[in-house]
Amino acid sequence: MLNWDNMFATRSTRMRASEIRELLKLLDRPDIISFAGGIPDPALFPDKEFRQAYADIFDSSAVNSALQYSVSEGYKPLREWLVKQMADLGIPCALDNVFIVSGSQQGLDYLGKLFLSPNDTALVTWPTYLGALQAFNAYEPSYDQLTPGGNRTPDSYREAAAQKGGKVKFAYLSADFSNPTGETVDRDGREKVLKLAEELDIAVIEDAAYQSLRYDGNPIPPILALEIAEKGHINDTRTIYCGSFSKTLAPGLRVGFIVANAPVIRKLVLMKQAADLHSSTINQMAISEVAERGFDAQVGKVRAVYSQRRNAMLAALEKYMPSGTSWTKPEGGMFIWVTLPEGMDGAKLLAKSLESAKVAFVPGQAFFADGSGANTFRVSFSCANDQMIDEGISRLGRLIAGEIG
Ligand SMILES: Cc1ncc(COP(=O)(O)O)c(C=O)c1O
Repeated sequence: MLNWDNMFATRSTRMRASEIRELLKLLDRPDIISFAGGIPDPALFPDKEFRQAYADIFDSSAVNSALQYSVSEGYKPLREWLVKQMADLGIPCALDNVFIVSGSQQGLDYLGKLFLSPNDTALVTWPTYLGALQAFNAYEPSYDQLTPGGNRTPDSYREAAAQKGGKVKFAYLSADFSNPTGETVDRDGREKVLKLAEELDIAVIEDAAYQSLRYDGNPIPPILALEIAEKGHINDTRTIYCGSFSKTLAPGLRVGFIVANAPVIRKLVLMKQAADLHSSTINQMAISEVAERGFDAQVGKVRAVYSQRRNAMLAALEKYMPSGTSWTKPEGGMFIWVTLPEGMDGAKLLAKSLESAKVAFVPGQAFFADGSGANTFRVSFSCANDQMIDEGISRLGRLIAGEIG
């Protein structure tokens, strides 16, 4: 047997199989009710619209460019559409502020590569999106806790980063309906993150993967919108907005985007040239067509279904969870975050649950950069119907009640 570990770069030691990916395999087992995956419901994909879009491309001269190499910045009509979308969100920008990536996950990888030298510090919430930790880990950073609305001093962050041999480089957060908690950062919290970033002179990475999926409550301006309102122009801002078509149209095409000041976009474009030249031309064209023809209607359809499922899951948690547990009440997104009594372990609970209750969820610890959070877990309602939700949460509630004793 070759010892590959001796040959791999040190950065590879932090790459471990994701608990979520392993668990996704369980979705195929018919006896398990799974709230584990955080994926969109395929029944909601605009498949007819995509079929039409691809047919139109193949039936016209556009097929030649669709199958050809294209520019690293991304397909121009899609970027133009995004410029209009962003204006509606309070983010006035120009074409050179918009960059297409192969899913916002690729954007997170590029941003890690652009900002993090080994031992630099990334500020992330505890918990945060596991995929962001995985993307950043490859660049060998340290993490420190970002608490939107909290009151840690910039100096305390600076000193902690210096002790770890680097500097604070960015704050990463999902301000709307985060993965894993479903929670939203209020306007005051967003402004405080911006203020902290200014004091530390670091970038803010705003992960807006779920931004369009609001079911109730009032929309809060994106951090980038707040910053543009303050500074006057996107090119004077430090917030980097990462968006995705995965949760609204379809994830399989791997089309996401970054909206930011032009100097950062120019660097990212160079990175893309080196990494994969450009995102799939034909998929960008198809996304552009489908978005142009009916983005709002599609988002309306998705929202109506998920909002109903969110309601059903909140009602089931209320009905079946024993006292001593608590959970978030998200205004959008796909996730609810459950906290068990101190001392209980979400991973052990999952092992028992798969054996007896036959319900899958994601234990929370992997979402914490400091390894805490053992007594938490994430449930997703995006792919579950009312009956699965009622049955699954009732079984889970019974199991947890038995464990609490
Ligand atoms: C918070 C968050 N950011 C980014 C992504 C990546 O999405 P994509 O690469 O499909 O755009 C996900 C996917 O689950 C996510 O939950």
